[in-house]
Amino acid sequence: MATERTLSIIKPDGVEKGIIGEVFNRFEKGGLRIAATKMIKMDQAKAEGFYAVHKERPFFNSLVKFMTRGPVVVSVLEGESAIQRNREIMGATNPAEAAAGTIRKDFASNIEENTVHGSDAPETAKFEISYFFKDSEIF
Ligand code: CMP
Repeated sequence: MATERTLSIIKPDGVEKGIIGEVFNRFEKGGLRIAATKMIKMDQAKAEGFYAVHKERPFFNSLVKFMTRGPVVVSVLEGESAIQRNREIMGATNPAEAAAGTIRKDFASNIEENTVHGSDAPETAKFEISYFFKDSEIF
């Protein structure tokens, strides 16, 4: 498999719990290099645009409210099969179904406040990275 890039977000609940360092440690120990990172607070339009693919879902408004309630840490992770690797490190979307030792199993409160986001495919990774970072900000 080739070297890939993926977008990671430590969501407001993760920032509030004070686990930015712990999450970064898991990425780095898991073979993912942090190629870019910043803390931002999304406004409603930014969060709606990011999750536009989910706009017809019943949880959309609640998700946007959650994602805008405080700062998040957005990062570009790089490594061998980075998209899949990051998904393994995060665990299943629903923490009740996440495997032992994953970020969501260890820290997530519920299916919405699930601590981290990661791109799910190469096309979405490309869109999501460019949604937050210019090429010149990625190292
Ligand atoms: P994420 O991987 O960022 O992708 C979409 C997000 O929507 C997901 O993580 C959760 O935060 C949220 N989400 C997904 N499914 C549900 C659900 N059934 N109820 C509430 N929130 C959900």
